[in-house]
Amino acid sequence: MARRGGLFFGLLPFFFLAPFAPSPAGAAVKRYQFDIVVRNVSRLCHAKPIVTVNGRFPGPTIYAREGDRVIINVTNHGQVNMSIHWHGLKQFRSGWADGPAYITQCPIMPGLSYVYDFNVTGQRGTLWWHAHIFWLRATVYGAFVIMPKQGDVYPFLQPDQEANIVLGEWWNADVEAVEMQGKQLGLPPNMSDAHTINGKPGPLFPCSEKHTYAMEVERGKTYLLRIVNAALNDELFFAIAGHSMTVVEIDAVYCKPFSTDAILIAPGQTTNVLIRADRTPGRYFMAARPFMDAPITVDNKTAAAILQYRGVPTTVLPSLPSLPAPNDSAFATGYNDKLRSLNSPRFPARVPLAVDRRLFYTIGLGVNLCATCVNGTRLAASLNNITFVMPKVGLLQAHYFNMKGVFRTDFPDRPPKPFNYTGAPLTANLGTSLGTRLSRLAFNSTVELVLQDTNLITVESHPFHLHGFNFFVVGRGVGNFDPAKDTAKFNLVDPPERNTVGVPTGGWATIRFRADNPGVWFMHCHLELHTTWGLKMAFVVENGSGPEQSILPPPKDLPTC
Ligand code: C2O
Repeated sequence: MARRGGLFFGLLPFFFLAPFAPSPAGAAVKRYQFDIVVRNVSRLCHAKPIVTVNGRFPGPTIYAREGDRVIINVTNHGQVNMSIHWHGLKQFRSGWADGPAYITQCPIMPGLSYVYDFNVTGQRGTLWWHAHIFWLRATVYGAFVIMPKQGDVYPFLQPDQEANIVLGEWWNADVEAVEMQGKQLGLPPNMSDAHTINGKPGPLFPCSEKHTYAMEVERGKTYLLRIVNAALNDELFFAIAGHSMTVVEIDAVYCKPFSTDAILIAPGQTTNVLIRADRTPGRYFMAARPFMDAPITVDNKTAAAILQYRGVPTTVLPSLPSLPAPNDSAFATGYNDKLRSLNSPRFPARVPLAVDRRLFYTIGLGVNLCATCVNGTRLAASLNNITFVMPKVGLLQAHYFNMKGVFRTDFPDRPPKPFNYTGAPLTANLGTSLGTRLSRLAFNSTVELVLQDTNLITVESHPFHLHGFNFFVVGRGVGNFDPAKDTAKFNLVDPPERNTVGVPTGGWATIRFRADNPGVWFMHCHLELHTTWGLKMAFVVENGSGPEQSILPPPKDLPTC
């Protein structure tokens, strides 16, 4: 603990806008200063030092408009390495600013700074940012709000006001110690002690009077809630007592509006909903609780916040919403089926109709020998039976500068041998092969990727996140993907477009995207536990031959390893 004492700079974010920068179409430069500092925070009657941005938990919200250039200087005043990822920002040609440690950059070492400099092109909506090294994103995260261009309106009812609802996870213990515990055991470490809404667990937890988020509303007004799942390991249901929600956007892409009593949101995903304060003025709980339909224990505790009608005394006891049961797969399937791209003339869904490259990746758990682990073995996770090994230098540098021996580009397009992926649990031959293996994609090629869950040890749902792109979720199903039957049922008209897809427990999800962004792009399960276990790989997208089709040169201050 002592190693984290004392360093605390800047209580408030150092934040200024430069609205007078040259602006072809009203575009501006938005500048932020992120100071990585340790701060004592207390929740659930436990105080501990945590790593923060600008001393805030959750961290500051970044605001930009579509078309802006965003420049964020990250200065590491802490004692551990840092890197920050702008989750869902496409980073066209600017992979150097993407953030995953050892993938697109070396970490920012203590005492050093790095400037993330990128354009927000062709995107508007809610995204987020988080640390992308170790489990530091447990406390280093915040919302990233992209407003429509000046003069543009939302393609739905204009809300009177808006609020961010950022869902997270809290451990009473030091999260690095929790992570170490898991490494030594070769097993999942202790699960979290609470879920949080805007960093606060709410009144169902001890010592939470001060740690309850409340949002004041006025009767008759409409509110846009920007909901982010920043939890490490849990998919969450979210609902508001007495109020239905209209989903209008997912992962910063407008969708066909639909009304629902609860949403399902996986780690990495964002969901914008409209709510109308049209009930008897009172106090209503908003609540979040995990969805888990596999035989796995999770932190099943409910985080709560309060929707507070103006003028209602805080002595009024709020009522809880009814959330779907923790294992309600039917709700999950039904909810996901309702997600459709808006696909309007102004916001068309550009689904690749022809496919240049077909990929089939199995998601598996495994067990490998581990000399340093308590039991001599450790759990691993793999794609096509390959457990990804983190390199010692950034893969993007290795690619750009043609460094030999850092990675191979022979990641297989399909599993070593087909089997009944989702039959009875497989408990023998659980070894995986280790490697820093990437898959090479031709510039502008169209890719179809089937992510197939397996019953190696157990089935489980996995939120897969692809950096550098949005993709279309053209199909999902339970059991084994059947190319003959399932391809015919793909939605190629208005499938949901997003950056993180939930692969159903014991099922599959098929995504399509166009590889039009040159660089090295990480793809991984957004459950931090599984990322740690190696459930990740990366794509190398080649440069195109056109003038604006190659990776930009690296910035001068790119960190070195
Ligand atoms: Cu939000 Cu690579 O992750």
